[in-house]
Amino acid sequence: MQFTAALLTVALALAPGTLAAPAPAPAPEPWTKDAAGVWVANNNWWNVNYKGKEIRAHESCTWQGQPNARDPGTRCTYWTNASGGQFHGNCLYAEQNGKGTMSCFRL
Ligand SMILES: *[C@@H]1O[C@H](CO)[C@@H](O)[C@H](O)[C@H]1NC(C)=O
Repeated sequence: MQFTAALLTVALALAPGTLAAPAPAPAPEPWTKDAAGVWVANNNWWNVNYKGKEIRAHESCTWQGQPNARDPGTRCTYWTNASGGQFHGNCLYAEQNGKGTMSCFRL
């Protein structure tokens, strides 16, 4: 699991003034399988397509290997740490000032 790269990406994304910078999509680091063989996303944010618009989406609310957001209500899972911790939620869409965000929201 390539968490060093993930943490660096998040740190850069959170640096002041860089939030609007376009992120490449899909994620450069691969998803990894969990114990059950299910591919699990990393804790990253990307600019992706959703219904013909560019929105900001959590990696767990994109389709693996595609720069496209999942639909709201879709289950989402991502690694929270290098010890196998996972976050489980549902994709939630919100718009503020015309900019859409698809987040993985805990039920
Ligand atoms: C990793 O995440 C899991 C689930 O949140 C948590 O139980 C565990 O304590 C975490 N491990 C570390 C080393 O942070």
